[in-house]
Amino acid sequence: EQNQEHTERESLLIAMNFAKDFFVKNLQSEEGRSIGLSYFKERGFTPQIIEKFDLGYALNGWDHLLSEAKKAGFQEEILLKAGLILQKEGDPSRLYDRFRGRVTFTIHNISGKPIAFGARILTKDKNQPKYINSPETPVYHKSDVLYGIFQAKKAIRDQDNCYLVEGYTDVISMHLSGIENVVASSGTSLTDGQIKLIRRFTSHVTVLYDGDAAGIKASLRGIDLLLEGGLNVKAVVFPEGEDPDSYSRKVGSQQFQDYLKENSRDFIGFKIGLYKDEIAKDPIRKAEVIREVVQSIGKIPDPIIRSVYAKEASGLLQIDEEIIFAELNKSLIKHQ
Ligand code: UTP
Ligand code: MN
Ligand code: MN
Ligand code: MN
Ligand code: MN
Repeated sequence: EQNQEHTERESLLIAMNFAKDFFVKNLQSEEGRSIGLSYFKERGFTPQIIEKFDLGYALNGWDHLLSEAKKAGFQEEILLKAGLILQKEGDPSRLYDRFRGRVTFTIHNISGKPIAFGARILTKDKNQPKYINSPETPVYHKSDVLYGIFQAKKAIRDQDNCYLVEGYTDVISMHLSGIENVVASSGTSLTDGQIKLIRRFTSHVTVLYDGDAAGIKASLRGIDLLLEGGLNVKAVVFPEGEDPDSYSRKVGSQQFQDYLKENSRDFIGFKIGLYKDEIAKDPIRKAEVIREVVQSIGKIPDPIIRSVYAKEASGLLQIDEEIIFAELNKSLIKHQ
C-alpha cells in the first residue's frame, strides 16, 4: 500500500515534469514565439528569467499535450490525476487538455520539482478566467505551497526577510528588479501551511499586496494570521491600481527598492496609515481603529513583543497605555 502510493506520487511528478518540458519547448515553436514569447517580452521578461521560472506556452488545440504524453507512454489515468487533462462533460471517454492557448507559469515545490501550473489568458476576453490553475492533486496541496519558494529560499534566509505578494508576475518582476526573497500566495488567502513554510527560512515577512480594495482586505487578514504564527510583520501600500509588477516596471528597479524601504510600516503603522484621515476627523472611528489595532496585538503569542507593540500603539494613537493593556487583557481572556 505504502509502496503503491509512492509509485503514484512518483508518476505524477514525472508527468508534471513532462508537461513542464513540453510547455517550455512549445514557447519556442512558431505559435509559441509569435503569441507567448512576444507576450512575455512585452511584459519585460528576459530569456534568463523565462528559463529561471520555467515559463512556457500551451498550444492552442484540444489534445497537443494529451497525444504527446500518450506517445511518451503516460497513462490517461495519471494525466487525469495530475490535472493535465479533463473529461468531456457527458462523455467522459473524451479527453482534452486543461491548458490551451495560454502562457504557463510552472509552480515548483521547495526542491524545484514542477507540481502544478498557472496559465494566463492572452486576450481581453472577459468571459474566461484570467488564470486557469492546476487542481489539488496528491502532489499539489495548494494551501501548503508558495509560488517562487524554490527560487527564493536562499535569498529569504540570507536577507532574513520574505516579501509576500499576490501573483505570479509580481514574483517574476521583483526578481527582475533584483529582489529575490519573494513568494506569492497566488490569489488564495494565506494559510497556516504557507506560514509554516516561510517560517522555515525567516521570522520576518513584508506583505506587498495589490493597491486595490481586495489587496488591502487580504493584507489585513494576512497580517493577523502572520502575527498569530509568531512572525514579525510589515506591510507596504502601493498606489491605487498598482501591484509590485506594474509599479516596479513603472518606476524602475532603483526607485522601486527605495519605495519599499521608505514605505515599509509595521502592522500598527500600516493600519493607522489606512485610516489616517478618518481618525483625525471622527473620534468614534478612532476608537474603532484602536480596538482593531489592539485585536491584532492580541494575536501575538510572545508577551514581551505584545507589550512592545502595545506601547507603540499607545504612542502613535495618543491613548493611555493602561487603557490599551486593559483592552488587550479583555481580548486575551476572551481567547482562552
Ligand atoms: P491578480 O488579479 O492581481 O493578477 O491576481 P496578477 O497577478 O496581477 O496578474 P497579471 O499581472 O494581470 O498578469 C493575483 C493572483 O491571483 C491568482 C493568480 O495566482 C494571480 O497571479 N488568480 C487571479 C487566479 O488564480 N485566477 C484568476 O482568474 C485571477
Ligand atoms: Mn531575525
Ligand atoms: Mn489582485
Ligand atoms: Mn495583481
Ligand atoms: Mn499584475
